[in-house]
Amino acid sequence: MTSAHPLAGKQLPRHVGIIMDGNGRWANAQGLPREVGHERGADSVRTVVRAARKLGIDALTLFAFSSQNWDRPPHEVYHLMALLRRYLIEERAEILDNDIRLVTVGETHRLPSSVREPMMELIEMSAQNTSMVLCLALSYGGREMITDAVRKICRAVTAGSLEVDAIDTDVVSSYIESSRILPPLDLLIRTSGEHRISNFFLWEAAYAELFFTETLWPDFAREHLLEALEDYSRRERRFGLTSAQAKSDDADVDADADADAAAEAAGEAGEVA
Ligand code: FPP
Repeated sequence: MTSAHPLAGKQLPRHVGIIMDGNGRWANAQGLPREVGHERGADSVRTVVRAARKLGIDALTLFAFSSQNWDRPPHEVYHLMALLRRYLIEERAEILDNDIRLVTVGETHRLPSSVREPMMELIEMSAQNTSMVLCLALSYGGREMITDAVRKICRAVTAGSLEVDAIDTDVVSSYIESSRILPPLDLLIRTSGEHRISNFFLWEAAYAELFFTETLWPDFAREHLLEALEDYSRRERRFGLTSAQAKSDDADVDADADADAAAEAAGEAGEVA
């Protein structure tokens, strides 16, 4: 990090997720077809990936196509797939030259081979890169991912490799695809003035800081990312603790000790009852 870094010394998120919304409204407002909005949206993707990498963000997840987006008009789905293919081919050099690792979350087996092929190639070619993880959420639904985890957990229980009583939040996390490849989600940005999660990182967003902006995704540029990061740097992340605990360097240790004491007390109370 250089001294010219606009957020030098401030609390930065390790993992930023973005719900890129407003492409259609942007196009409508200009009297253009929705597809042009998506094309401009792909330009914003290029800008934001570059900016995030330069700012030192460890992981950036972009909600590029939801499980529900398959139900959009066929010509729009076709265009979005063509745009994804073009992005994966045209950005290959930029991603590799900047030491970015591409990963995906979602039901990518549903994507056409015209997208899957350049995607798998770039995943493989970038696998050793370490400067930033770029995660594309493709054919992604948070409920679908949780449902998939439940199915796998049930299979493990049925096979005898997992005890029902051993299932806790860490175990469930380990069955959620994103937690195997990404750090915990710190900041979730949604553009276009909508205040919804829309089936994005439902499990992962439990303690993420949320940032909503009126800016439509095709207009979202480096300065908007900086604004979100600046806002994040002023947030106090408490994870259910008190402010004093959260500020303490020993917060984790204290929380563990307090949780143990509370559990013990609850156990004793249960025994008495
Ligand atoms: C939401 O806008 C956006 C999408 C459904 C697709 C996002 C895709 C891109 C940004 C471009 C391609 C992606 C990559 C990674 C190259 P909307 O269509 O729902 O907008 P609206 O709510 O204004 O109609």
